[in-house]
Amino acid sequence: MPEPVDQSRFRAPVGTHDVLPPESDRWMAFVATFAERAASYGFGLVLTPIFEHLEVFQRVGESTDVVRKEMYDFEDKGGRRIALRPEGTAPVVRAFVQHHPPVPWKVWYVAPHFRYERPQKGRYRQHWQVGAEVLGVDDPEVDVEVIALAHGFYRALGLENVDLVINSMGDEHSRPAYLALLREYLLDHAAQLGDTFRERVEANPLRVLDSKVEDWQDVIERAPQLTAHLSDESRESFEIVQRRLDELGIRYELAPRLVRGFDYYTGTTFEFQSTALDAAQNAIGGGGRYGKLAEEMGGTPTSGIGFGIGVERVLIACEAEGVGAPPSPRADVFVVNALHEAGSAEAGRLVYELRENGVRVERTYGDRSVKAQFKAADRSGARWTVVLGADEATRNAVNVKDLRSGEQLEVGREGLAEWLEMRRDEDDQSKGT
Ligand code: HAM
Repeated sequence: MPEPVDQSRFRAPVGTHDVLPPESDRWMAFVATFAERAASYGFGLVLTPIFEHLEVFQRVGESTDVVRKEMYDFEDKGGRRIALRPEGTAPVVRAFVQHHPPVPWKVWYVAPHFRYERPQKGRYRQHWQVGAEVLGVDDPEVDVEVIALAHGFYRALGLENVDLVINSMGDEHSRPAYLALLREYLLDHAAQLGDTFRERVEANPLRVLDSKVEDWQDVIERAPQLTAHLSDESRESFEIVQRRLDELGIRYELAPRLVRGFDYYTGTTFEFQSTALDAAQNAIGGGGRYGKLAEEMGGTPTSGIGFGIGVERVLIACEAEGVGAPPSPRADVFVVNALHEAGSAEAGRLVYELRENGVRVERTYGDRSVKAQFKAADRSGARWTVVLGADEATRNAVNVKDLRSGEQLEVGREGLAEWLEMRRDEDDQSKGT
């Protein structure tokens, strides 16, 4: 007797999920839309490994939870410390430093990311991001282009309930003095707010600013704001970003307490939040400028800016707003074999030829009655049935039925693929696609 199988072992691990058709159609449409938009902004696709040396993520000064607590890291069989990618920016900068591509280097990506988080709706241990990064140009015009790319993408998906919030993290000239001021202010209130508060302030006072703890909000709201303590250069750059966004009609709100989840940000930061989602998981994308990453990886000082957009979260937002492409039917044409046994080779040949001509074709398998085949054709959502009948066969023709209008006609076997393509083009034109 074989051992009983432990079924729990054969399920996707907690916090991960399978994406099956037809749901995966929405994914394909999502990525295709992003790819198209990224191309019109001049970005090329970059593919980096799913795992990197741990140091790519765990750099000196990176103290955030994603990197310190939630990383999937392990030793490989060669004794190397390896981490599954928790975020997309560090690998792209690593690739930039390694390959020295000409600047501006504008790349986009689509990839799975791994974070050992407490799973809930919109928060997973494996999630997917599409993202974009520009390296080598420290110019607020680039900040605006990057924000515009993400902004236009949500619009292209049909999302309307998306807020853009922006902030500036300042530069190495303005940040230390501000941090000292903030720390002092917060510690002044630590006695009344308790040990956890004090510990958080001591670890990183900036991280306290975006805390959601009720009792701390009064103190946080009155805390000094970084944007009031920017260096002249940072302030001017941030003002240009705002002016340009205004000129393009891209609406935003200033969020002086927006502290994104990584310590590498300098200058502009931003987040897109969906008002259709729960506040805890409402960030459907975010990013910002990072001035020091390349240097931290041994490269020449190079500034970059980019964003990551969470695919699952955006799809949840699309569902909440009732937008997004409906799954498309799997087939244009369903071939019905009314010649039975005698015609199965002929049906197989026709299916093959049409598919090789780019027509999406479905069929049944095994010896099914004509009635059962028509039923399957109806269920498939195909636009046409192509029936191989004895009568038509004598004239080297097939019977084509338009399943929408019910109209039927005989089409010569030779010109069938061309005829179907013409009809499909007409359909696309009338849909305006
Ligand atoms: P992030 O804000 O950590 O930024 O992630 C980007 C987006 O990924 C989030 O806005 C959210 O939509 C989605 N996301 C993050 N964690 C999860 C999760 N556990 N489950 C589901 N979705 C999630 C970054 O990763 C930066 N690399 C973005 C960036 C690019 N900054 C500069 N360039």
